[in-house]
Amino acid sequence: MSKILVIDDDSSICETLELYLTEEGYKVQTALTGTDGLNRFVETSPDVVILDIRLPDIDGFTVLEDLREENENVKVIMITAHHDMESTIEAMKGGAFDYIHKPVDVDELDIAIKKAINTINMERKINGLLMEPSRDFKFGDIIGTGPKMSEIFKTIGVVSQSKTTVLIQGESGTGKELIAKVIHNNTSRSEPYIAVNCSAIVETLLESELFGHEKGSFTGAITRKLGKFELARYGTVFLDEISEMSFNLQAKLLRVLQEMEFERVGGKDKVRVNGRIIAATNKDLRTLVKEGKFRDDLYYRLNIVSIDIPPLRNRMEDLEPLIGYLLTKINRDLHKRIVGVSDEMMDIFRQYSWPGNIRELENLLVRAAVVAKGQILAKEDFPVLFESVDYKKMETEREEETKSIAGEFLTLDEIEERHIRKVIRDTDKNKGEICDILGISRPTFERKLEKYGITFERE
Ligand SMILES: Nc1ncnc2c1ncn2[C@@H]1O[C@H](COP(=O)(O)OP(=O)(O)OP(=O)(O)O)[C@@H](O)[C@H]1O
Ligand SMILES: [Mg+2]
Repeated sequence: MSKILVIDDDSSICETLELYLTEEGYKVQTALTGTDGLNRFVETSPDVVILDIRLPDIDGFTVLEDLREENENVKVIMITAHHDMESTIEAMKGGAFDYIHKPVDVDELDIAIKKAINTINMERKINGLLMEPSRDFKFGDIIGTGPKMSEIFKTIGVVSQSKTTVLIQGESGTGKELIAKVIHNNTSRSEPYIAVNCSAIVETLLESELFGHEKGSFTGAITRKLGKFELARYGTVFLDEISEMSFNLQAKLLRVLQEMEFERVGGKDKVRVNGRIIAATNKDLRTLVKEGKFRDDLYYRLNIVSIDIPPLRNRMEDLEPLIGYLLTKINRDLHKRIVGVSDEMMDIFRQYSWPGNIRELENLLVRAAVVAKGQILAKEDFPVLFESVDYKKMETEREEETKSIAGEFLTLDEIEERHIRKVIRDTDKNKGEICDILGISRPTFERKLEKYGITFERE
């Protein structure tokens, strides 16, 4: 039986809540002052505390602080007559689990208590265990457990022993730049690492960025400028979004790759390339070649060693280790103690298509960690995901299937409800016509609308 402590100086509130919550099956204690509340808390260690902000002796925020000092996992639901944003923010920052306005709506309180107890149970279940990848890792490591990723690790190992050009292909957020850096870091005598985004700058500028220019080679070239290929010396030039490079520059890059030397813009001296070139793209270069948008000779030259990173949706075995890795990083950066993601949320994560791949996962976890009240990230901590177009698309697709998001078979009632909603949504027919489509009588239709709480506006 969960224990609840109510601290409020209004004895009628204490009595009402005691009555109501006892009926709901909780073990309830009440206190009229902050001091009394704190004493009772130490004696009985309740799971949830309902705490008024205005108390006669100590103010609620201080009580909250003291409670959390006693037990940092306590779930405190603050109640107050104030409606201002500031005290709400202050309460949440102080570690309150929820914040409810007076007069207390029992349904609202009920939901808050259930959520708090749910969180406590999940925290107990996980028992302080972090979802950690099985081996020790350093930050900057590439997490990957399946066969495709282990092939990639092997390729990285092989290319790190030479200065061959490498092409890295993968959807956005799959870790192309991360892999480029790991290759660079594993190559001996490789300094510095220089990244150039081929889509970010206009063609002429990109040319002089890459190859440099001689003094006076064009208006504005008042001094000689060294390009990235020259500045990289024995290091790495990372050419990001190579597919965006103009045809003209593609030809020049091809020459550099073939001869490993070039001239600065407006110059005649040959400059040697001693470093390594790594190119990356999130578009399929082969298709671009077929469409005549990328030079085939450059493609073949780049594709000698290529690393194709599979999208996250095709390597779901990495989901948990990645979450463990990212949460450890997030805890360190944000001074948090998140221990994991709820089972319910993991089920949703496994179904999701992850169009933004690991970057999307990382961003979602960071946002959730910032707002989370418990140590487990739960469904309500991921509003951004549920509002996203991609998630909604997935839900509609799911609607046509026979299983729920959690992968469980639907009941016949659930399927019936989905079907009725779908017919109403996808047709512009009136009630009579919909009854014909569904093959049921008008009264049956009305009953089903009521049963499933469906509102039907068209007559
Ligand atoms: N296998 C992995 N293990 C751990 N972290 C990863 C992994 N893959 C990607 N990340 C992290 O995900 C984020 C995105 O990775 P990165 O910037 O390398 O992707 P990208 O493929 O270059 O994306 P884009 O195409 O959008 O430029 C980074 O914070 C990176 O550290
Ligand atoms: Mg990138």
